[in-house]
Amino acid sequence: MTKYQFPQDFYWGSAASGPQSEGRYEGDGKGDSIWDLWYKKQPELFFNQVGPEKTSQAYIRIKEDVALLKATGHNSYRTSIQWSRLIPEGRGAVNPAAVAFYNELIDELIANDIEPFINMYHFDMPAVLQAEGGWTNRATVDAYEEYARTCFELFGDRVKKWFTHNEPIVPVEGGYLYEFHYPAIVNLKDAVQVAFHEMLSSARAIAAYREMKQDGTIGIVLNLTPSYPRDENNAADVKAAQFADAFFNRSFLDPSVKGEYPADLVADLKAIDMLPTYEAADLELIKNNTVDLLGINYYQPRRIKARETAHNYTVPMPEDFFETYDMPGKKMNPYRGWEIYEKGIYDCLTNIRENYGNIPCYISENGMGVENEERFIDENGQINDDYRIEFVTDHLKFVHQAIQEGSNVKGYHMWTFIDNWSWLNAYKNRYGFVSLDLANDGKRTIKKSGHWYKEVATNNGFDA
Ligand code: NOJ
Repeated sequence: MTKYQFPQDFYWGSAASGPQSEGRYEGDGKGDSIWDLWYKKQPELFFNQVGPEKTSQAYIRIKEDVALLKATGHNSYRTSIQWSRLIPEGRGAVNPAAVAFYNELIDELIANDIEPFINMYHFDMPAVLQAEGGWTNRATVDAYEEYARTCFELFGDRVKKWFTHNEPIVPVEGGYLYEFHYPAIVNLKDAVQVAFHEMLSSARAIAAYREMKQDGTIGIVLNLTPSYPRDENNAADVKAAQFADAFFNRSFLDPSVKGEYPADLVADLKAIDMLPTYEAADLELIKNNTVDLLGINYYQPRRIKARETAHNYTVPMPEDFFETYDMPGKKMNPYRGWEIYEKGIYDCLTNIRENYGNIPCYISENGMGVENEERFIDENGQINDDYRIEFVTDHLKFVHQAIQEGSNVKGYHMWTFIDNWSWLNAYKNRYGFVSLDLANDGKRTIKKSGHWYKEVATNNGFDA
């Protein structure tokens, strides 16, 4: 027994995604996603101009990578099936090379007792569908359902943990508010429509999963950012934090788990004429198709106050309702500039227990990005990332506490397994348990944290 012992059958693992790890190869049959498209158009936007074809080569290194998963103690692993690899034109013909690849990956994981957790949409709209408006276009929801059905049909016999979307608020924020995903436009009306269509597509996939009599569980992965008001006793700050929570968290959490949209969010958006277009039957469908399992990605909270100064947008924005502020004395990640607030993970889990029926959940991402991580390499070529061990330990202690208090937490997945390509940031921040040497044909070396994680997983806990 360790001091921090976790429940039996706890899932220890890490998460990655298809577009961030697979790469592109001659003759692989993959179609362009919005990332391939954007990189072709504006490579200068990407850190050091490194694009999505240069990832960790997961496509051609299955056996080696699964051996590394094993060596770092994984009993589970999440990645995603790239829509544009499986169905290059977004709808219609399936790419046989993609089927062979995902079959091999899934089989290899299972043969090594590593349970595959498979996500479907991870920010990677097929370019052909984006040309028709992407998530702003209702027809994309139909195409997505077809893609989901194809995934279940091909892989559902072996994959028992499915997720419809990863962080669906991020394509909303990135693509239609803050310009860090394609098409990088600023339009609140479109943003809200995208959010609604993503949510509808999730419910449609869940309905299809059940109709197809699949015998696993299906859920969604949400990035939750607990929103703390500057002053609990200041009603305006509290209201501002409530809006931020509704817009960035509850907009997906409530319909996914409770089957309905938060009344305060609907009222606030209605007041500014920003409700999406929908059909009455959509709400019924969402109501009847809630998730079995919730994945929670937790990185950092939001520190919120009521707006005091005008923001610099000339169009309606969520920022009309709140302002973020720099909380004095907050703890920072010195290597990336994000706040570290370990108790936030406990607050997320407690909120799920108290307000969302204690639905089964797991930590689907949590991790620490580090710039220029090469500086921590020792003479044997290993990165000594004690800061990451400390980060994960501190968060796990709070996960443990939540479990002790009754939270229904099934596992912990760190972001990420092998250092991977991260959208516009490319390789700016490294997150992995395993380092990647791009200059040396993608050579992998387990970091100190990867060896440490193996111990934790083997003991199902730790003593720190
Ligand atoms: C969340 C996302 O799921 C992933 O794609 C991203 O790279 C990490 N967080 C790190 O920011």
